[in-house]
Amino acid sequence: MPALRSVPMTPKNSKITDMANLRSVRPFRLVKFFSFTGLVVFLFCTLALSWLITNHAKRVLLERSEAYSLVVAENLGHQVFQQFVVPTVLRYGKIALRKPEQQQALDTVVRDATHGMRIQSVTIYDSRKNIVSFSTEKELIGRVDLGGIEYQRALERQSSSRLNSRGNVFNLLPGAPEISSELHTYIPFIQRKIIGNRPPPVMGVIEVVQDLSEDAKEIIRFQVYVSAILMVIMSGLFAVLRFIVAKAERIIENRAEERRRLEEQLHQSEKLATLGKMVASVSHEIKNPLGIVRSTAEILGKRLKSVAPGNEHLAAIIVEETGRLDGIVREFLDFARPQVPKFALASVNDILEKVIHFIASDLESHRITLVQELDGALDPLAIDREQLYRAFLNILLNGRQAMPEGGTLTVRSRRQEGLSGGVVVEVADTGVGIAPDKLSRIFTPFYTDKNRGTGLGLAIVQNIVESHGGTIEVESEEGRGTLFRVILPRR
Ligand SMILES: Nc1ncnc2c1ncn2[C@@H]1O[C@H](COP(=O)(O)OP(=O)(O)OP(=O)(O)O)[C@@H](O)[C@H]1O
Ligand SMILES: [Mg+2]
Repeated sequence: MPALRSVPMTPKNSKITDMANLRSVRPFRLVKFFSFTGLVVFLFCTLALSWLITNHAKRVLLERSEAYSLVVAENLGHQVFQQFVVPTVLRYGKIALRKPEQQQALDTVVRDATHGMRIQSVTIYDSRKNIVSFSTEKELIGRVDLGGIEYQRALERQSSSRLNSRGNVFNLLPGAPEISSELHTYIPFIQRKIIGNRPPPVMGVIEVVQDLSEDAKEIIRFQVYVSAILMVIMSGLFAVLRFIVAKAERIIENRAEERRRLEEQLHQSEKLATLGKMVASVSHEIKNPLGIVRSTAEILGKRLKSVAPGNEHLAAIIVEETGRLDGIVREFLDFARPQVPKFALASVNDILEKVIHFIASDLESHRITLVQELDGALDPLAIDREQLYRAFLNILLNGRQAMPEGGTLTVRSRRQEGLSGGVVVEVADTGVGIAPDKLSRIFTPFYTDKNRGTGLGLAIVQNIVESHGGTIEVESEEGRGTLFRVILPRR
């Protein structure tokens, strides 16, 4: 018995390992990767975009409101000077806002000047001290240090504004505190009449307050709408992209699968080519001695008749068995060195009838009913008669062997559907059928479940059909029967 040897890593071995590795590598999960990163990017973009849009809206509103307040305050300053300061000084000699009649007069001037305008309150600060001299909100009069940095700026003749706002998206929810937003604008209250070359003195600071709560609420609502719409658009975009990427991934996977299959096929055909060469040379070597054994046995049979009568059957057994061996050797050679088909116009029905005629008595002796449904109107095709005869014979013999208890063998021929003009041949039996796991292997050379079969029959049939540019299909159900369909195209 030969000792076990370790197999060295030849290029062929390494190819097998490569293929195994290739199969074990999980395909790049493009869709999964895209889903996560895409979702994060889209979410980020949506939030950034809605923030940008609403921020811009806020800025524009603020700029416009501030400009409005400045115009109102400017006009107010003018009105106060003309209608309150000048008449009061002329009448009382000086301004003393502590006096109720002066307060009342100023209040009337301010209310007249701001009537119908979007102004919530007006406050006038003293120029010497950060104290409220006058306000349309009476409770503020006399309070100190309310002005803040904007008051100081106004004293330096600079107008500025401050936005006091409170609330966000959540304040839109029912029951939540109201959103509030107030714009406080401060401008210097400048004496209009210029005395000498000196710049007119600052008499005080006017603070105008605008209530922007409704606008702020509107902007936050707008922010919600923008976010929702962007979210919907982005989700749609994401769904479309995801669909495209999923499709691309499927295509990539199919291509990879196809490549793997082709590689396997290549590998298989390399293996078969080597095997074929070996089989061909061995078969060739066997063929000649087999012929000699057979003819010698025939001569021996004749001689035995006279020398040892009654023993002729021994020679007959040798002749019969060498005949069977010869058949096997021929099959091996057919498979290993397939002949190039010699195409000539012929009728497929003629070939089928010849095959049927050849095995008719065999079928009868096995209690098999033959049903012929041959389409008589078929056009002749360019085919190799010899090769197709062998192919159909193989298929019909398989059918016969699949029905040891008898049954029905149907042979059908018809035109291929469409304009191709090809021919479809179907051979159906009611035999044992083929298990689904075996179905994919029946065309593999040397696959057989018969004691006396080589397993080359269907491999040769497939070679022949493919060399005619045709295809062979099989449908089978275990215990019910099998149908082989050969499609031969018009060439
Ligand atoms: N009509 C059929 N019904 C059931 N099984 C079938 C049929 N045709 C083929 N098979 C299965 O496919 C296998 C391969 O068939 P194939 O013709 O290639 O070889 P074989 O018939 O076993 O041997 P050989 O044809 O060389 O005598 C068979 O062994 C059988 O298991
Ligand atoms: Mg067979």
